[in-house]
Formats: sequence, C-alpha cells, structure tokens
Amino acid sequence: MRADVVTIFPDYLQPLRLSLVGRAQQRGTLDVRAHDLRTWTSDLHRTVDDAPYGGGPGMVMRPEPWDAALTEISAAVPGSRPRVVVPTPAGVPFTQRKAEELAREPWLVFCCGRYEGIDSRVVEAWADDEISIGDYVLAGGEVATLVILEAVARLLPGVLGNSASAAEDSFSDGLLEAPVYTRPQVWRGMEVPAVLRSGDHGAVARWRREQSLTRTGQRRPDLLAEATRTGTANRAAAE
Ligand code: ADE
Repeated sequence: MRADVVTIFPDYLQPLRLSLVGRAQQRGTLDVRAHDLRTWTSDLHRTVDDAPYGGGPGMVMRPEPWDAALTEISAAVPGSRPRVVVPTPAGVPFTQRKAEELAREPWLVFCCGRYEGIDSRVVEAWADDEISIGDYVLAGGEVATLVILEAVARLLPGVLGNSASAAEDSFSDGLLEAPVYTRPQVWRGMEVPAVLRSGDHGAVARWRREQSLTRTGQRRPDLLAEATRTGTANRAAAE
C-alpha cells in the first residue's frame, strides 16, 4: 500500500518509521510519503491560511495549495487514483470496520488540516472519506493520521507475525478482548486463571468468550447491544 500524507508538519509522521509500521515500510508492504503543504504555495511567506468568511476565531486553510498538492500527488501513478481521507472531528467515527476497508485500498492520501480546518470546497472536491478518531478536538489531523495508518498497517498481509492475531483482536467480532496473562504463574499474590493452564483448548475458548462478553457488557454496553442485535454475541452459546 502507498500512503501520501500532506501536512504543514511532515516531522509529525516520524513515528511511522518505528516498530511494526516501520518494519512494514522496510519490507516494502507499506510506502508512506510525507509532503509539506507549503511546497505548493506560491507567495513569499508560503501562506496556507486566511481568515474565515462569516467571521469567528482562528484561521482556515486556503484551497489553492491543497488543490495543487492533491492534483500533483494523485497524478503520480498513471492509471490509478488514490482514496483521499480527511481526518476531522466532524467526520464519521473511525472503527475497525473502516480500518479493514482502508486496508483493502492500494493507495491512500491523508490531508492533515490545522487551525479551524480546511476550506470545505477542498473537501467537497477531493475527499472520499472524512474520518473522526473520537469525540475530542486535536490540534490537527496529523495524530489522527498516525492512528488511522497504524490501525490499517497492521492489517496488511504479512505485517503481523501471527495472522490469527488480527482476527482475534478486540472489535474484530464486535466485542472487547478477554484479559491476557504470561509468566510468572503467581505475581503479587495474583494467580493466572487455572483454565488457561489446563491445556483444554475448548475450555479456554469458552472462558475467553465469557470474559469477552462480560467485559463488553460492563465497559461498552453499546457494543454488546450491537453484537447481540447482529448475532455475533450469540455464537458463544453455539460453541
Ligand atoms: N482533527 C482534530 N481532531 C480530530 C479528531 N478527533 N479526529 C480526526 N481528526 C481530527
């Protein structure tokens, strides 16, 4: 997958060189390119913002640099067109389903807005998705892009060491994951549940399922209601 990120702070994307996403880049599974939006300005001060029409606080990102950037970047691969993503608190909520959908795309472009956001006409002309990573306001779209790209990158073929891990993630079946343990067997007087040491794979699977349902009910009743409605929560009874 290729991912182009347009931002006025390309250094914000540095963490993508690390860990799992960094390895995916080294292996060639993922190719992330960060671009400085100011490259596509034409004035001496490399201006990217202006006052909002209608008044109000802050500044809005002007459309021209964005249009020039997106025109040039999206022409980089002849015969192909990227899916353009704009992270914004006004977008649709980012979910594991959305991550799976984006992971199937060969090419994504992220537009990181700052200030009060990007002129809406840019979004209208170019965006395929407007995505929010949660009900809070960040200083810009860069951290949201990191979040989205990390969630997407770990779904790309060959990125996770164990391909079963993605299928067993929290949310992949609409529920939260069961708690996990490793050695030592007793730590601070707390013992690893006996069933996990029993070697009985069926019993382990049932225990995890119960834990998953209990946790989801306690912490995310909204998810449990949805999983019950769509039938994923009832699979436990059949197992
Ligand atoms: N930009 C600022 N806040 C954001 C959020 N919550 N999600 C996505 N992009 C954002």
